[in-house]
Order: sequence, then structure tokens, then C-alpha cells
Amino acid sequence: MSLFEKCYRFTKAREVMAAGFYPYFVPLEASFDTEVIIHGQRKIMVGSNNYLGLTHHPKVIAAAEAALHKYGSGCTGSRFLNGTLDLHEQLEERLARFLGQESALVFSTGFQTNLGVIAGLVGREDHLFSDKLNHASIVDGARLSFGTVHRFPHGDLRSLERELARTPSEAGKLIVTDGIFSMEGSIVDLPGVMSLAERYGAEVMVDDAHAFGVLGSRGGGTAQHFQMEDRISLVMLTFSKSLASIGGAVAGPEDVIHYLKHHARPLIFSASNPPASVAAALAALEIIEDEPERREQLWHNTRRMQEGLRSLGYDIGESNTPIIPVQIGEMERMFVFWKTLFDAGVFTNPVTPPAVPDNSCRLRVSLMATHTDKHVDFVLDAFAKAGKRMAVT
Ligand SMILES: Cc1ncc(COP(=O)(O)O)c(C=O)c1O
Repeated sequence: MSLFEKCYRFTKAREVMAAGFYPYFVPLEASFDTEVIIHGQRKIMVGSNNYLGLTHHPKVIAAAEAALHKYGSGCTGSRFLNGTLDLHEQLEERLARFLGQESALVFSTGFQTNLGVIAGLVGREDHLFSDKLNHASIVDGARLSFGTVHRFPHGDLRSLERELARTPSEAGKLIVTDGIFSMEGSIVDLPGVMSLAERYGAEVMVDDAHAFGVLGSRGGGTAQHFQMEDRISLVMLTFSKSLASIGGAVAGPEDVIHYLKHHARPLIFSASNPPASVAAALAALEIIEDEPERREQLWHNTRRMQEGLRSLGYDIGESNTPIIPVQIGEMERMFVFWKTLFDAGVFTNPVTPPAVPDNSCRLRVSLMATHTDKHVDFVLDAFAKAGKRMAVT
């Protein structure tokens, strides 16, 4: 069979396009934080990871603009060679301090951070333990590592313990888990994971992509939420959500960060993140520290939306965070539902296999601190009308 045969046979997406329900790669013509313009029409954005609404904060934009003028549009090289700015180092210091860790390392994206850290640390003699619902970048990091990979069923700590117990006690072990699971909106049982890690001598890395700025008394993420900052080994985060930019970082012991600086291939062989992005993340971090009321507003909006959807009769699973997956079921039905909401002025994220099991398709609603009660009510009203039309509720 020719190499491209699979491409010629891939017709599914074209069928959905022809039916007029294709929900992906929708170009935004303008963005006003909680509202966007698509095909000339204003929509309420509840499909963004911009949890604290900082992408349009005047201080973030001013910092990005200033960096653009001071350093230019790009770094044109990797962190290892000509691509490290004083801004990257300032951000590393600030992040380490904020997270209560010794040191931090900034990568160009969160995806690259997971690839670099996992493949860089888990060598031939080592074992990696990964929750089956972890993000794709963790799955790919595991594929790139030379160690033995154990994938345990989502949240199943008994399985995790069985795998840990079977592993030679002297082997290096890393347990990696999302802090907030991105398709479920649920929080990992970190105390349970930590107690197994301590019993079996494993290190723990938490991917706080969705928890940074959202969970914890100061927005420090999952470990702060459980008051376990001094027990966790490594915190991974991305700048593409609460930090309103693009980039990623890992924080942990200085010796480990130093090692990764010299062994993480995505750091060494890919260009560093541009000045404006780093400056934006730095400014966003400062705002997270200075404006805790944003986090409170995010949780207010989250509770309102969750209560509203539940009282309309929707199944939102185990969600207890600003990520709210609304169960729809079969794929075609979900596409039609998505389009109904879209036409009513609401932008949600459709989630289909392989991200979720077959017939468990969902529309993911994500809240922002800058949504108003009026936005939440508008979205709930659209769900109420669409639900009646589609007989989902
Ligand atoms: C849990 C998780 N980890 C890692 C990433 C990758 O982050 P980035 O967008 O910075 O590549 C994401 C982004 O979707 C994520 O949700």
C-alpha cells in the first residue's frame, strides 16, 4: 500500500465538513478576552484555557510590547546556545520562588517540557508510572524514554501500588500525573499518590498545566491545594493557560534542573520562546501574585456554571474545577449539539475519541475569571434551549 493511501482513505472529517458541523480549526477574527468574533459574529468564549483572563490585561500587553522592542521578535536559537535571555532567567527565578522549589527551567511549550523532562530523566534502568488519562505530551514523553513504562487505569491507586510493588526496589521510579485532568475536570488524589511514592521510593511529578493559577491558596497549583509543596519532587506547568502566553516550565531540586539543562533534547535542539511571550508570562505571574480576587471570581463563575448545568439535568461527571465536561454521548449528536450552541453565540470545545471513550463525547466548557454573571446566564440559556431541541436533558 502506498504511503499516502491512509490519507486518501481518511474521509471522516470531510464528511462532517460537508454536513456543515465541522467544529475544528475555526478561525477567530478578533478576540476581546471572553468574547470573540467568528465569521463576523460575536460569540461568548467558553472554550479557552485563559482561566484568569490575563491575555488582554494591560500590564501583560505592555510587558510583551516592551520586550518586543527591546529584544526583537524572536530568539533565533535554543536556550543552550544563543537563545537564553535575562528574561528567561528572571522567569525561572520567579517561578521557583512562587512554587517553593529550588530551581526552575523554562521550555518553549508545555508539550516540549513533558517530552524533555520525562525522556531526559527516565533512563534504561528506570520505571515510569503514568495515569492512563494523562495528557498526550506525557504519553509521548513516555514513548521517547528508554525506561519501562507502566500505565495504570485512571485514578486506580491499587493498580499503581501493584506495579510499584513488582518493580525492583533499587530501580529509579517516577510517578507522573496530571494535577487537574483536562478532559474530566477532576483533581488527582495527590495525598494517595504521595503516600505510595514515599512507601516505594518513587519521585512524583505533577503536570499542573490546568492547576497553576487556579488551585491552591495562592494559585500555586495541586501541591499547594493539598499543602504538599515540600513533598512533591517536580512541578510541570505551561504558560498557555493561566499565564496567558506560550511556553512551559519544570520546577524542582537544583541538581535535577541542572541535569535537565544538559540532557533535555527539546530544550537543547529547539529555539527558545520569544521575548514577548516570556515577558507576558512574567507579567501574568506578577498579577497572579497581586490580584487573588481573580482566582476567587473564577471559582464563583465555576460554581454558578456547575450548579446551572446540573440543575438543567446535564451530566458533568466528576468535575470540581473550571473545566466542565458536558456529556453528550454519540459523536454525530455531539457535533450537531456543538453547532446549535455555536449558532446561538456560544463557543465550546468538542471532545471526541481518542481523547475520550467511544460514545462518551462531550462538550467541554471552561470558565474564566473575566466572565460575568451575564455571560454565564447566556451560556446556560443556550444549553437549556439546545438540550430541549436535542432531547439531551
Ligand atoms: C495537561 C496538559 N499538559 C501539557 C500541555 C501542553 O502544554 P502546551 O500547550 O504549553 O504545549 C497541555 C496543553 O493542552 C495540557 O493540557
